[in-house]
Amino acid sequence: MTHAEGAPGSSDLVVVANRLPLDIDEDGGWQRSPGGLVTALEPTLRAREGAWVGWPGRPDVDPEPFDDDGLAIRPVSISADEVAEYYEGFANATLWPLYHDVVATPRFERSWWEAYRRVNERFADAAAQAAAEGATVWVQDYQLQLVPHLLRRRRPDLRIGFFLHIPFPPPELFDQLPWRDAVVEGLLGADVIGFQTAGGAENFRRVATRLTHAEAAPETGGDHLTAPDGRTVGVAAHPISVDASQLDEMARDPETATRAEALRHELGDPRTVLLGVDRLDYTKGIDVRLRAFAEVLGDGRLDRAETVLVQVATPSREHVEHYAEMRDVVERTVGRVNGEYATIGRPVIHYLHQGIPHEELVSFYRCADVMLVTPYRDGMNLVAKEYVASRPDGGGALVLSEFTGAADELGDGSYLVNPHDLHAVGDAIVAAASQDPQEARRRMGLLHAQVLEHDVERWAAGFLAALGVGS
Ligand code: ADP
Ligand code: F6P
Repeated sequence: MTHAEGAPGSSDLVVVANRLPLDIDEDGGWQRSPGGLVTALEPTLRAREGAWVGWPGRPDVDPEPFDDDGLAIRPVSISADEVAEYYEGFANATLWPLYHDVVATPRFERSWWEAYRRVNERFADAAAQAAAEGATVWVQDYQLQLVPHLLRRRRPDLRIGFFLHIPFPPPELFDQLPWRDAVVEGLLGADVIGFQTAGGAENFRRVATRLTHAEAAPETGGDHLTAPDGRTVGVAAHPISVDASQLDEMARDPETATRAEALRHELGDPRTVLLGVDRLDYTKGIDVRLRAFAEVLGDGRLDRAETVLVQVATPSREHVEHYAEMRDVVERTVGRVNGEYATIGRPVIHYLHQGIPHEELVSFYRCADVMLVTPYRDGMNLVAKEYVASRPDGGGALVLSEFTGAADELGDGSYLVNPHDLHAVGDAIVAAASQDPQEARRRMGLLHAQVLEHDVERWAAGFLAALGVGS
């Protein structure tokens, strides 16, 4: 046995992700950590009494492993320099923009790559220590693409899955990465590699067969590759989702409806409430929706006295340059649009640079007549799915960028837009805000049923089944 250190661990199912589902605070207490990945995976892993290997969210802390209500928490320590080079640098200033259609210019720094490799080795060691003999290890996202290969070297007995939560770019963009061969080798260490969309899976197959000796394995229907070491690797789309029945139930709670009404009242009882909910990320197209909104107020297609836009933007990756720049752009635009169209005590845009609690978010969704999801590129976009799951009443409308993974599933009932076409975004906002009530209910009925049926439990069970794990 080639275990990294000592005997194997005791967990039959191990998730490895950059972040733990809990972040440590200044006083050593633990708080729920943000983001779509945690929202999606925590219930699944808890139900299976697994282990979670991840970073506690602060540099230079090294907390002891512990059990949290049946879930084994296995912290991986990251230094302040590594946070700068591995997390803010390689993960979020190299890979993130490269994988999101280079909507910002990626930076390629050798020292960042070296930190990325070093931290990936550490995660692989921790996973090797947590996993029981013959266990299943499920590695998550772009921060840890080298882990499948590194872990297989340490523990050939394991079943290893990898899921990429963000887009996988076409070869024409991926080829810019100076360390592209090592990244592909890292991913091919998995038995199953999952992507949000069929397009992402296809991009990876093209990249892998061109850059390595991997070959298509047509006898499996084209979904598999034969890796250079002869193993069969599944490469397929597994679109992630949300805990739809929980959201549906919360939305049906009369308290949610009461809170939604109170919110509308606090907003001045406008005829139309538009809503955006995002991490403050330059890929999300917050800027384009604000400008499109200003345009339709300006040309009078929406009445400035009867329309309000609420934009909730969670602070995110604030030390990364492009994020700070986008925050400036968003905040200047909010100021400009309010300066032009607000009246005393009645802003047309309510902007919150903060996270809001889950229950409150559902009331926001229930209150919103039009949800604006306008990324330039997004792996999936769980906010779109959360919104429609929260509308069992059949109300509301979804304006959705065609460049999200969600558009593959929600195209039929939503108002699809190209976020690079400012006027088209404005047109979609007007169409969604003035839709015929019967047509609105038909659309939302379709969307709600789609998400209720394809929920996060189905996603996790489907991926694990592809890895050979029964439910
Ligand atoms: P990403 O993974 O890029 O952050 P997603 O839309 O897929 O984008 O997931 C974002 C998750 O974070 C969703 O579960 C959403 O509810 C949550 N979220 C985003 N913004 C906020 C906010 N301002 N307050 C609370 N939760 C938020
Ligand atoms: O889906 C992309 C992602 O990076 C997830 O891995 C994470 O849940 C979310 O965005 C939040 O990002 P961060 O962990 O950098 O705050």
